[in-house]
Amino acid sequence: MTEVKKIAHVAILVEDIDDALKFWRDALGLELGHVEEVPSQGAAVAFLPLGDTEVELVQPLGEDSGLAKYLAQRGGGMHHLCFEVEDISAKLEELKAAGVRLINEEASTLEDGRQIAFIHPKSTGGVLVELVQY
Ligand code: CO
Repeated sequence: MTEVKKIAHVAILVEDIDDALKFWRDALGLELGHVEEVPSQGAAVAFLPLGDTEVELVQPLGEDSGLAKYLAQRGGGMHHLCFEVEDISAKLEELKAAGVRLINEEASTLEDGRQIAFIHPKSTGGVLVELVQY
């Protein structure tokens, strides 16, 4: 079985990153690593590194994305848990073979080269799970 290395990040869905930073950075005291737009995911994200993991703030871009609709319906809050894996393609194959419902059958490659895929909450006990390979 291909290795799961660590929790890469815990993601929180927010209406506005700048506003959310008033708590996560200014009040709690986490450092802001970097902010990036991920158009393929319809989101802007801010990463706040902590130990060997990170908190990710996710803000929907535009009003038509799935994320924007999710935010409108359920409000902000815990959104997903991301695990770093050794080999994302192999892990997706293993999960498929185990009958796990995947949102992305194949990983997508982001601009910095990292590969990600999501697993459906129906198969995880209700938590949206992201896999990443750096
Ligand atoms: Co994420």
